[in-house]
Amino acid sequence: MRPFVYLLASVCLFLACTAESRPFKTILKSFNEQSPLRDYIMPSTNEASTGIIISDVIGKVQDIAIFSGLTRNIDAVSGRLEDAAQNATVLAPDNTVMKNLKRKPWEDPEDYNEFGAQAYEGVNGSDRAHSNLERFVKRHIVPESPWEEGKKLKTLAGNEVWWEFKNGQKTVSG
Ligand SMILES: *[C@@H]1O[C@H](CO)[C@@H](O)[C@H](O)[C@H]1NC(C)=O
Ligand SMILES: *[C@@H]1O[C@H](CO)[C@@H](O)[C@H](O)[C@H]1NC(C)=O
Repeated sequence: MRPFVYLLASVCLFLACTAESRPFKTILKSFNEQSPLRDYIMPSTNEASTGIIISDVIGKVQDIAIFSGLTRNIDAVSGRLEDAAQNATVLAPDNTVMKNLKRKPWEDPEDYNEFGAQAYEGVNGSDRAHSNLERFVKRHIVPESPWEEGKKLKTLAGNEVWWEFKNGQKTVSG
C-alpha cells in the first residue's frame, strides 16, 4: 500500500488558512477509520484581514508537531507556508498517526527492493530519503483555501484529492 493511501485511512488534521477568514482546524475522519473523532477550534485572531502565516499557526498545534517539523525540512513547502500571500490547506496527520506509520515517511519499499538494506545510506541514500520525504509532505499540502466540498484538487505532489461530509464528518479521499 502506498503511504498516502495509508494516511487517508487515518485520522488527519484539517487545517485551513486563508487571507480572509480565521484559521480553523478539524480532525478529519476518513471512511474506514475506527478512532474517535475529535474536534478543535482554533483561538481566534483579530488580524483576520492581514493574512496568515500558516507555518506559525501549525507550529503552535502540539498534536501535529511531528508533521510540522517535517514541513520545515522541505524548502518548497516551508516557503509556501511562510508566505501570507499564498493559500494552502494542510492535511496534517496528528502525532499518533505519525508514530504509528508502518514505515518512516522517507522510506519506500521499492527502494529496499532495488538497493537493499543500504537504501538510505551514503550520499545517494540520503538524497533518496529526502526526495521520498518531500513527496510525503507535498501529498499533504493542497494549494488552495478555502477548499469547497467535492472539489478535486491536486496536492503539491500532483495527486488528486477531494473531501466531502460523510456522516457529518469531513472525509478526504484520493
Ligand atoms: C486566498 O484565498 C482568498 C479567499 O478565497 C482569496 O480571496 C485570495 O485571492 C486567495 N489568494 C491566493 C494567493 O490564492
Ligand atoms: C550515486 O548516484 C550517482 C548518480 O546516479 C551514481 O553515478 C553513483 O554510482 C552512485 N553512488 C553509489 C555509491 O551508489
